[in-house]
Amino acid sequence: MSAPLRAHWGLDPKVVFLNHGSFGACPTAVLQHQSELRARLEAEPVRFLGREVEPLLDEARTGLAAFVGADADDLAFMPNATSGVNTVLRNLRFQPGDELLTTDNEYNASKNALDVACAGMGAKVVVAKLPWPVPSPDAVVDAVMAQVTPRTRLLLIDHITSQTALVMPLAELVRRMRERGVETLVDGAHGPGMVPLALQELGAAYYTGNCHKWLCAPKGAAFLHVRKDLQAGMKPLVVSHGHNSPRTDRSRFRLEFDWTGTHDPTPFLCIPTALRVVGGLVPGGWPEVMASNRDKALTARRYLNTRLGQDTPLCPDTMVGSMVCVALPEGAPVRPEPPLYLDPLHVRLFEEHRVEVPVTPWPKAPQRHLRVSAQLYNTPADYEALGDALEALLR
Ligand SMILES: Cc1ncc(COP(=O)(O)O)c(C=O)c1O
Repeated sequence: MSAPLRAHWGLDPKVVFLNHGSFGACPTAVLQHQSELRARLEAEPVRFLGREVEPLLDEARTGLAAFVGADADDLAFMPNATSGVNTVLRNLRFQPGDELLTTDNEYNASKNALDVACAGMGAKVVVAKLPWPVPSPDAVVDAVMAQVTPRTRLLLIDHITSQTALVMPLAELVRRMRERGVETLVDGAHGPGMVPLALQELGAAYYTGNCHKWLCAPKGAAFLHVRKDLQAGMKPLVVSHGHNSPRTDRSRFRLEFDWTGTHDPTPFLCIPTALRVVGGLVPGGWPEVMASNRDKALTARRYLNTRLGQDTPLCPDTMVGSMVCVALPEGAPVRPEPPLYLDPLHVRLFEEHRVEVPVTPWPKAPQRHLRVSAQLYNTPADYEALGDALEALLR
């Protein structure tokens, strides 16, 4: 199997790493390139940040645009998806009584950003409850659409949910929302590198995606895609020189978003490297990376469900990407003293068995599940180790 692929990552050999989903993991060759870029920057900071960085950013953006099916002019680099969500919400103006729709599967940080934006303007957050387990993508669409009213202004939705690892029926949701005159802000933190993207075709108003998760770029590489008709007047979270720049050779959107104060641009500049390195690890390139991670995730789900005695998958195969959710048997024994906010089983899996995998209460405690990731470096032995550890801990 693909154990040799693990050699491309500097992951701790003593850990069974089944949580690519939280923070990704960057291959050594990409980090090497980042170190070279940093050395170049520090050798002459003014030359690099003052003169060389702009064409380098343009080149990185062009590479990223081709990968996510976008026009490079519509992409702004972001340090992370959280910043992307906050940027959009800080730019929007709502009226008292306006409704901002999201789902009960929304990522907590993004939901917080929505709550804060609404509270400041007297708008109301409406949360659509999704069925769980999920019988079909249509059931998700129906649950969301049922909450749309004439006052709905925006839908905030994860492309791939964090807690439940669901690949949402995004195209259908965006289309149906637009039919009702509602724009969509997609939190695509897990999208790039997990599922094929065609952002221009999708037509969502805003899509923010991380490159430091499934695309395997260094930490701090993300983007915000803003549909052309919505770019005018859009401000970054941090206003800098672009606001009154006399330049006319590039759009205000680009001038404003490309410079938000001194920072390390090397994560962005490494996006094309990550695309080349990871896409080069298998003969079929990125389509194969995504398809094989998905196959691995589905195989892991079948295997773990069998070992845990669960006969029904929590969502259809069509809603699975490179992560799967597996329900833990109810009443599974846990250590009595809960450490911090982590589930005791989560902690014991790591402390006693060196298995890194998140355990989350869902839909609410005491029901819990595991979210298991599949990346090129994972092998069947990793999932067997998880199965053995669970058997020992849940016995
Ligand atoms: C759905 C979703 N949105 C946003 C984020 C936040 O990503 P970041 O910390 O890179 O902003 C995550 C992280 O796991 C996520 O799963």
